[in-house]
Amino acid sequence: MTEIESRRIPVRAPRFDFNDAPEAWLDDDPVATRVVDALSLVFPEGERFFIRSVKHYARVFEDDPELAARVRGFIGQEGRHGHEHERWNKLLASRGHPVERFLAFYRALAYDRIEKATPPHLRLATTVALEHMTSTLAVIALTTPVLDGAHPAVRPLLYWHAVEEIEHRAVAWDVLAKVDPRLSTRALGFAIGTGVLGLFWARAFAMLGEASKDGRTRPRRRFGRNLRAMAPILARSMADYFRPGFHPEEKDLSALAREGLVRAGITP
Ligand SMILES: [Fe+2]
Ligand SMILES: [Fe+2]
Repeated sequence: MTEIESRRIPVRAPRFDFNDAPEAWLDDDPVATRVVDALSLVFPEGERFFIRSVKHYARVFEDDPELAARVRGFIGQEGRHGHEHERWNKLLASRGHPVERFLAFYRALAYDRIEKATPPHLRLATTVALEHMTSTLAVIALTTPVLDGAHPAVRPLLYWHAVEEIEHRAVAWDVLAKVDPRLSTRALGFAIGTGVLGLFWARAFAMLGEASKDGRTRPRRRFGRNLRAMAPILARSMADYFRPGFHPEEKDLSALAREGLVRAGITP
């Protein structure tokens, strides 16, 4: 098997039928559901930003066929994620959630202002940090019980997204390593990425909560148990990120990804 085949990033185009998902589709808990729905609101524009950040540096990978092929896979996968999450977000809008109001605020601040004020190498470093976060969340989704209580109409979308975040987890990293391998750049990207994601994720969560009719502000007990399951994985992942010599693919996650595809109902 050639190196290109062994690290191939396949672009799949599954179509999920989640229209029958109940309003509180995660653990029958409106608060836990809003946490994940809020992340879905952030995803499509965020993934398009990742694509722009990496594409900006086409000149550094166009003469590297292995990396160029992986970048194409990454772009294809992120494009599909945005497409499916946009369908999910439209369903939320059709159910009366203030999706458009959030998106107008998010686009104006994150992309018309913050992105434009950030130099390209830091946009790429921000992307690298957020790709590290999404692949960490993917490992959490596939190795802990956090999605056990998700409605079967929604679970395949989340498992599929998780698998592909694992598959392309090193692409932006490898582009940044060619552009600017300094730890300080990675650290600054991490600060910007987590700060901006935290701000907009929290804002989306708050807006979904303000407009909800369930009146629930406290999550069910399972939520705390899930947070405790996530904490050690998040902590280890953050420590890894700043460890000299770390690479996102240093651990082989291919068996986990294959198992996730089966759980998503996709033939590996
Ligand atoms: Fe994605
Ligand atoms: Fe990604």
